[in-house]
Amino acid sequence: MHVGILTGGGDCPGLNAVIRAVTLALINECRASVTGIRRGFLGLLKREVSVLDKPAVTGILAQGGTILGTHNRCDPFHYFGAGGADVSGQALAYARELGLDALVAIGGDGTMAIAHKLSGLGLPVVGVPKTIDNDLCHTDRSFGFDSAVAVVAEALDRLETTARSHGRVMIAETMGRYAGWIALEGGMAGAADVILLPEQPYQLDAVVQRCREREAVEGYTLICVAEGAMADGDGLKVAQTIADSPDPLRLGGVGAVLARQLTPRLQSEVRATLLGHVQRGGSPTPFDRVLATRFGWHAAELVQAGGFGRMVALHGDRVTSVGLELVAGRNRPIPAGHAMLAAARGLGVSLGV
Ligand code: F6P
Repeated sequence: MHVGILTGGGDCPGLNAVIRAVTLALINECRASVTGIRRGFLGLLKREVSVLDKPAVTGILAQGGTILGTHNRCDPFHYFGAGGADVSGQALAYARELGLDALVAIGGDGTMAIAHKLSGLGLPVVGVPKTIDNDLCHTDRSFGFDSAVAVVAEALDRLETTARSHGRVMIAETMGRYAGWIALEGGMAGAADVILLPEQPYQLDAVVQRCREREAVEGYTLICVAEGAMADGDGLKVAQTIADSPDPLRLGGVGAVLARQLTPRLQSEVRATLLGHVQRGGSPTPFDRVLATRFGWHAAELVQAGGFGRMVALHGDRVTSVGLELVAGRNRPIPAGHAMLAAARGLGVSLGV
């Protein structure tokens, strides 16, 4: 058996742990040969591959990033290198030429959408859910999320001591374009006083009120805001437009905007910190190492059982799989009735509404 593995979309702690687990399981259990496709789907178009054997995956479990490289804009169905043309036939032809019996695609919603389409064209594909945003449908968790939350929690811990010392309002801006899981869990783990999410436009007055209450009693405030959050009535996320890019909207800066909105309304100084790609880099947490390893092993089992067109998923504590068609191109925002939102409100955290 010959199996290809690729990592698509943004990088994420735990990718190497999945690559290692899939490779070791396939070699140990069925003596498969395993090939790494480099830079996501671009490797299938540019014919960039490398051998994945035991030495190649030794010592990578705790390494951040991906040893295969990745690409977050290469869609063979709308290839930027060919003016948006569909070159999927070229990708399929190379997979056939390599003699791949299966492809394991590790990625987020975009990668799963491409995997689903390739699967429809006859490529035997198994997906593995990756994203620090934790916003893939039909899985309770994607690996990488726990590592990102740990970074946010530590950042808030550090911002708390300086906020308290100076009597300031400190804003931490997290990733999360359309789903606020990182801001919500990171904010809860770091004891934020205000958490602002993309799912619910914030009322500036509500944020001001919470900061004033804290100015009067505790003397400082911690705010955790997701990059996709926006003020009520604005209707626009804070973003830059990137010229000549298939993904022209780059989010970032809502923390600084919020700081400018709050400054004239408060006595305290307001400062914003953009956490950015720090949340995506570095070594996975032990939880993510184990989750990624379980996902990788399960993907190898699906390959051996011929369970194609499916994505590995976590349901409760059980690793299982779901049809790619349920996941492809979809997104999982925080539901309005989610228990953690109720818990946050119950503890007096302002959600800006
Ligand atoms: O999808 C994960 C994510 O980290 C988003 O939260 C973020 O907006 C985006 O990727 C950033 O990607 P890039 O590396 O292209 O800036």
